[in-house]
Amino acid sequence: LLGTVGAAGAAGLVVGGAGGALSTAAAHEDGPAAALSSLGSTEVPFRDDRAKQQAGITTPLQASGHLVAFDLAPGSDRKAAAALLRRWSRTAEQLMAGRAPDADTGVALDAGPSSLTVTFGLGHSFFDRTGLTKHRPVQLDPLPDFSADALDPKRSNGDLWIQIGADDALVAFHALRALQKDAAGTARLRWQMNGFNRSPGATAHPMTARNLMGQVDGTNNPKPADADFDERIFVGRDAAQEWMRGGSYAVVRRIRMLLDDWEKRSRHEQERVIGRRKDNGAPLTGGSETTPMKLDATGADGLPVIPANAHARVAAPESNQGAAMLRRPFSYHDGFREDGAPDAGLLFICWQADPLRAFTQVQRKLDRGDALSPFLRHEASGLYAVPPAAAPGGYVGQPLLE
Ligand code: HEM
Repeated sequence: LLGTVGAAGAAGLVVGGAGGALSTAAAHEDGPAAALSSLGSTEVPFRDDRAKQQAGITTPLQASGHLVAFDLAPGSDRKAAAALLRRWSRTAEQLMAGRAPDADTGVALDAGPSSLTVTFGLGHSFFDRTGLTKHRPVQLDPLPDFSADALDPKRSNGDLWIQIGADDALVAFHALRALQKDAAGTARLRWQMNGFNRSPGATAHPMTARNLMGQVDGTNNPKPADADFDERIFVGRDAAQEWMRGGSYAVVRRIRMLLDDWEKRSRHEQERVIGRRKDNGAPLTGGSETTPMKLDATGADGLPVIPANAHARVAAPESNQGAAMLRRPFSYHDGFREDGAPDAGLLFICWQADPLRAFTQVQRKLDRGDALSPFLRHEASGLYAVPPAAAPGGYVGQPLLE
């Protein structure tokens, strides 16, 4: 389920055609409006009684995304931050229901919600800026330096972080502008990145996403049906910081792919880099995409079929004392660099209850040199505390800020 791109994914709620909540879509005066397809009409609830967490974590991947970080403006204190999160939550709720916010730009006037999700997070520096240092969870301690990092501080971290995803690029951009306007005077844009995934309906085999290296990516993610899913991904009921219970931590890495080098490798070599087939994502030890990897299997040459340095082997929970995270990325392509190489790769986003025992544990291993590392450059990094969903009538982060 997770990682699948579906017009009406399990976390989405299909609302009725051109009528119902979608008054903007029905407002055309040149005759009866055509019904929205399920892509346009799919709505992901901002508040979901069944789930304590914000939308955009277990929601199926969307086709279009924006990541944006803000720093509080000088003089913006805890009260100002609280008022901003209240405005942002209100706008997010309206937009996710397919309603236009106040003083609308009209960019998404004729569109349905298109599975829009808006997810809010708080960075390490937020807590000092707002006088809330003693409420900062230890899980927000800065990530260690990794040897392969080439991080740009201007495109890393930030007091506040928003993840926007939608199955329509205009709906996603519309949300970005509305949220940016809400921030005026209180917080300043620090960095922004744009990403994409496959469009719903583009493949007859809806399955796990494919990335710009052509690999099926997301296969061995923890699944919501797993008994230990909540424990691994969401902050538990006994967490020291009460306001984070039911929330999650997001690690964001902009990882450029050295595609010119990658594309020169044969398919056989590429498959050995990951340990899985390119066409269907099946492990090199056989079966289909969902068949477990046989990490012990050896070939006629006596060597492991899934090479010792294969990315999937090195990153697997079996190699990392059970460490697991939910990877929910967007691809990006920002044109070409001066040397002519594509400025393209993965906006890697992973979700976990404890980054030290998930992302950091695994990245330390990968950083020692798995087979994929020579084709990657980590260029930006962020770590954010993503509080649970807003309570009825409330806003995201309210228990911390009031
Ligand atoms: C697995 C690609 C970076 C952690 C995989 C797979 C692919 C892939 C194709 C196999 C299919 C799957 O299970 O999803 C990439 C690419 C990356 C990248 C292209 C960078 C651009 C990372 C990073 C981490 C990570 C930075 C964490 C620090 C994992 C994990 C698995 C995995 C935990 C599942 C292993 C298993 O349980 O079988 N990755 N990956 N990956 N990757 Fe990555």
